[in-house]
Amino acid sequence: MLIVIPKVLSGEPLQQAQALLREAPWGDGRATAGDQSAQVKNNRQLPQDHEVTAALRQIVLEGLSRSLIFFSAALPRRIFPPLFNHYGGRSNAFGNHIDSAVRTITFGEAMGQQVRTDLSGTLFLNDPDDYDGGELTIEGMHGEPRIKLPAGDLVLYSATSVHRVEPVTRGERLASFFWLQSMVRDDGRRQLLHDMDMNLMTLRRQHGDAESVVALTGTYHNLLRMWAEV
Ligand code: NI
Repeated sequence: MLIVIPKVLSGEPLQQAQALLREAPWGDGRATAGDQSAQVKNNRQLPQDHEVTAALRQIVLEGLSRSLIFFSAALPRRIFPPLFNHYGGRSNAFGNHIDSAVRTITFGEAMGQQVRTDLSGTLFLNDPDDYDGGELTIEGMHGEPRIKLPAGDLVLYSATSVHRVEPVTRGERLASFFWLQSMVRDDGRRQLLHDMDMNLMTLRRQHGDAESVVALTGTYHNLLRMWAEV
């Protein structure tokens, strides 16, 4: 699964996030890396339990909760609280790695909760013209996508993919990243449900509550009921 969701943040919330990032107390990105990742990870991150991180996290979570497309694509059950990273200067890249399969939340209200990382998300927080490089490259997917998005746009991709962040050679790249456990673990089933849901939205716009649209909506929910773990 690889889905780009435009404008998860825009306008006021995006500006608030960018203002908070200007005062952010960046630390070593290896704080949340596993053994393999730590060897290839060279970036900076906000401390997980800092008040600036908490304020930013709130903005990102509110953006996600407003997005119908995010909900449809991810069918989230648990979201690992979003974190924030900075690439630039001497800390400017993250080589090939795979995200850990299960993460334990070590701070805040959900402390101790475990999240199976079905999907990884990167929400870009500054303008792509501000920096050179910094593409998120995902291996093993058709065309090996290199992703660099406008501020406020989100990419969701299967956490099973080997990926990297290319070196930032000019300026700085700011982003939020997170993982989530989906109600539907299987990537193919989740993609099928999302495709069906998006087409149902179009059908509903075109035909209102026609009998066949209601019936198909029922089929969507029955498939979700069959596959969801809650
Ligand atoms: Ni990663």
